[in-house]
Amino acid sequence: MQRGKFITFEGIDGAGKSTHLAWLEHYLQDKGLEVVVTREPGGTALGEALRQLLLDHRQAMHPETEALLMFAARREHLDKVILPALDRGAWVISDRFTDASFAYQGGGRGMSTEKLEKLEQWVQAEFSPDLTLYFDVPVTLSRERVQSARVADRFERETDSFFERVRQAYLQRARQFPQRIWVVDGSQPMTAVKTAVAEIVEDFWANLPKAASGD
Ligand code: TYD
Repeated sequence: MQRGKFITFEGIDGAGKSTHLAWLEHYLQDKGLEVVVTREPGGTALGEALRQLLLDHRQAMHPETEALLMFAARREHLDKVILPALDRGAWVISDRFTDASFAYQGGGRGMSTEKLEKLEQWVQAEFSPDLTLYFDVPVTLSRERVQSARVADRFERETDSFFERVRQAYLQRARQFPQRIWVVDGSQPMTAVKTAVAEIVEDFWANLPKAASGD
């Protein structure tokens, strides 16, 4: 049995990743794969309970508490959902993962990269996604999209400068890991974004080492 692949979607709130995530799920299912779609924070019963606390705008917390809860939810998510699925050959698509901690808790809240790297090392060692799509949009555009959507959560209530720092931290991560993180210009019309996503995914698929027959 070949181990599955782990694909993550990232972007500031309102970058439009959800639509494309659904497309990718169907694309992979059409290839006959088992696909597990999940999200962070969340993905398990405990993780979803932590998500409620993390997104509740009435719940104040220290930035490091926020980071610790994100990684606590992630530890559970890896143990209960992500790693078992990959082990049985399923492909896992997660709406956000550790890059979000570096972008939001690091860039946004100003927590040091060194501390976040320690948590990352503790919780996931060398494990990281095989492919990450980062949807990049200017803060003003993401704002328009989020405002028309619904009641704002604890992160969505943050200032434009917070989101600008989050965006810059994501772009910095993309420069740091150019083999893994692909930047998609999410400000283009939806069809153009979809084409860009499809190209990246098809390329990833085409370049996979194929299982040697008879092994
Ligand atoms: P989001 O993924 O935007 O879900 P929805 O589309 O339902 O709003 O919400 C999750 C929020 O959590 C988002 O604002 C980013 C934040 N977040 C972090 O700050 N750090 C993390 O490590 C993760 C995974 C998410």
